[in-house]
Amino acid sequence: TLSEEVMINRIHQIKQELGSKLYIPGHHYQKDEVIQFADDTGDSLKLAQLSAENEQAKYIVFCGVHFMAETADILSSDDQVVVLPDMRAGCSMADMADIHQTEMAWDQLQDTFGDTILPLTYVNSTASIKSFVGKHGGATVTSSNATAMVEWALEQKQRILFLPDQHLGRNTAYDLGIPLEQMAVWDPINNKLEYEGHYDDVRVILWKGHCSVHEKFTMENIAQVRADMPGVKVLVHPECTFEVVQASDENGSTKKIIDTIEDALVGSSWAIGTEMNLVNRLIQTYSDKNIVSLNPNMCPCLTMNRIDLPHLLWALESIIDGEVINQIKVDEETSHFAKIALERMLKKSI
Ligand code: 13P
Ligand code: SF4
Repeated sequence: TLSEEVMINRIHQIKQELGSKLYIPGHHYQKDEVIQFADDTGDSLKLAQLSAENEQAKYIVFCGVHFMAETADILSSDDQVVVLPDMRAGCSMADMADIHQTEMAWDQLQDTFGDTILPLTYVNSTASIKSFVGKHGGATVTSSNATAMVEWALEQKQRILFLPDQHLGRNTAYDLGIPLEQMAVWDPINNKLEYEGHYDDVRVILWKGHCSVHEKFTMENIAQVRADMPGVKVLVHPECTFEVVQASDENGSTKKIIDTIEDALVGSSWAIGTEMNLVNRLIQTYSDKNIVSLNPNMCPCLTMNRIDLPHLLWALESIIDGEVINQIKVDEETSHFAKIALERMLKKSI
């Protein structure tokens, strides 16, 4: 095994050698050891836009998770090669909506509600789900534009099916004034709708998926931090549960969390409910503010963390050797409709 120093030097060397033929986007939840090599860092919306714009790079080495690399492949041109340094870097939330379950759910929902539903999917989903959504007139959303996208969708149709994160869907719809009583939950394991009222009242159908990282922030954490740090402001990602978002002071996408901390007053106190690497980076960058993780156990995204120095170097060496490993290639049909879903979103948020 190579020492850290050797790996770092070699990566710098390869980056120099490949120049503008290589592009490394890095999601904010990536480790510092990886982020130091990112040409751009961003949340999932920004990285999707940057991948679409970058025409020079032949190789896009995506430091993030599988669905992000798929998105980059869908938006990039045919001769661009997208690489994910570790194939095990998946997303447990994206895995909660499988295409067969989605097709089954759709058929049943059509039987119940007729042609009154528009599907929307969080970008944290597989390319097949994006494609399904694109085929049925819907679009993707990210945490930065979810409000605008849900509003748009509800102008098109009477109801939406929101995949795969029930929390982002619920938090966003509630912010738009839709009461919880008008939200149903689709349970993909038991293949049934959870709803107690009259079906005519349903406006939003939430897929029963969640992020295992953001669900770890609890009401107990909020009570504890308010007791420990008087005057603290609680700032959470909308992938957190409804009750946690309601009990927080502010909530927003990864980008909004960063912007809020950047603009916060020197000496102000913040408890942040999002992924560990980002919280640690904010603590280091803004040492003039009192920042803690809302959950003192810190919450890493284990799959994001699979991308590390050895894997990044391995992927880059494979490019140099001309035998590229871990290429992410979405098939043409899937890609066609997934792109339609993504473009409906990008058109509205650029
Ligand atoms: P954003 O980067 O859109 O805030 O998404 C958070 C996330 O969980 C990414 O996997
Ligand atoms: Fe998926 Fe949650 Fe990890 Fe994001 S933080 S990649 S949503 S498991």
